Amino acid sequence: MKYRIITMLLGLLLLYACSKSDSVTNTDSITSTLTEYQIKRPVRFPEMYIPNDNKPYKERITLGRMLYYDPILSNDGRSCSSCHLQTMGFTIAGSAGSMPVLPHVNLGWNTNYMWNGSKKGTLEDVMIFETEEFFATDLNRINNNEKYVQLFRQSYGIDKITHKYIGYALAQFTRTLISDNTKYDRYMNGTDVYTYNEEMGRKIFFSEKGDCFHCHVTLITTDNDFHNNGLDSIYTADKDKGLYNVTKSVNDLGKFKTPNLRNVALRKTFMHDGRFTSLEEVIDFYNSKVKKSASVDPVMLKPGKENGLQLSTIEKSQLIAFLKTLTDSTFISAVEFSKP
Ligand code: HEC
Ligand code: HEC
Repeated sequence: MKYRIITMLLGLLLLYACSKSDSVTNTDSITSTLTEYQIKRPVRFPEMYIPNDNKPYKERITLGRMLYYDPILSNDGRSCSSCHLQTMGFTIAGSAGSMPVLPHVNLGWNTNYMWNGSKKGTLEDVMIFETEEFFATDLNRINNNEKYVQLFRQSYGIDKITHKYIGYALAQFTRTLISDNTKYDRYMNGTDVYTYNEEMGRKIFFSEKGDCFHCHVTLITTDNDFHNNGLDSIYTADKDKGLYNVTKSVNDLGKFKTPNLRNVALRKTFMHDGRFTSLEEVIDFYNSKVKKSASVDPVMLKPGKENGLQLSTIEKSQLIAFLKTLTDSTFISAVEFSKP
């Protein structure tokens, strides 16, 4: 008798476990009809996190790409691509003194988003925010669009399009926006050589001389962290307070997300408020205009660096020559990333 009860209980447990795993596959049962897609993982790149319920499939990536370029998502005629332009590395030539658009490049390795870190999580999380809150996508409009109703049914097995699934599809596309063919990548892989000036610039960047590598740790993506690099010493305007606006901790005053430096030479304005309009100005800042404050990164005030980096005119130009090797012309012209 006791035995029977135990077997019954075990049976129930097994049934429960099966039904549970069944329901997991069921939500994604549509995938057996889709075309599998392997997100590329270039040499030297770390593993990219991909949530189980949004595995990459060609149909979903294509859908995300269509949405990215389609003004149907917004209420004012704009699409994501109105501000995130492929030819500029998925940003835009902003105007001096206004917040630059952050580029969409190697975002699949990020978990912190926005200059001040106001969004965290997976690409799905930030993309849901973009459609639901930033664009406030009108769900009636998209649900009245036969083409999208069809495509969402085919890709996700859903009858009603929601912000969640729009975000999921956008995440599928943006996850494929991988840059791995700059001259720097080729140099690292041993398939290209640097000029003398590029090589000297690389050495300044990755040594105590320039100290850039402390924060721009990896040029694959970024360090995924926030730093105060000494742009200001007093923080009156909210826009300059950075991560402080999110955490309200004084230690975070003036801390911003370390931007990805890929395609940086294509940008027209630099830093969270677009205060610099050339790489020369950026380097001059790091060389001699860093400001002290309680939250400035200790790297900026290292002994011996009290009077700046003290780079010569030639060294400054070498650093710029190196930054220019971070331009990925394959990425900015790839057909699979362009308007479908
Ligand atoms: C009007 C211009 C504009 C449009 C249109 C636009 N963006 Fe952006 N995007 C920005 C700006 C500016 C930032 C930086 C905002 C900040 O840091 O607070 C940004 C940042 C982002 C980020 C964070 C990137 C990072 O590295 O942290 C993501 C993700 C993003 N946008 C996705 C989208 C998507 C998806 C769409 C379409 C649904 C879209 N954007 C449409 C201007 C725009
Ligand atoms: C203490 C960390 C730190 C160090 C060291 C550092 N950076 Fe930065 N860098 C940042 C942060 C954070 C930002 C964004 C700051 C902002 O917008 O307020 C930034 C921005 C930039 C930008 C502008 C990118 C854009 O898209 O606007 C460039 C270019 C740059 N850094 C290059 C360098 C170089 C070259 C060096 C070495 C001379 C260097 N950085 C040293 C953290 C650092």
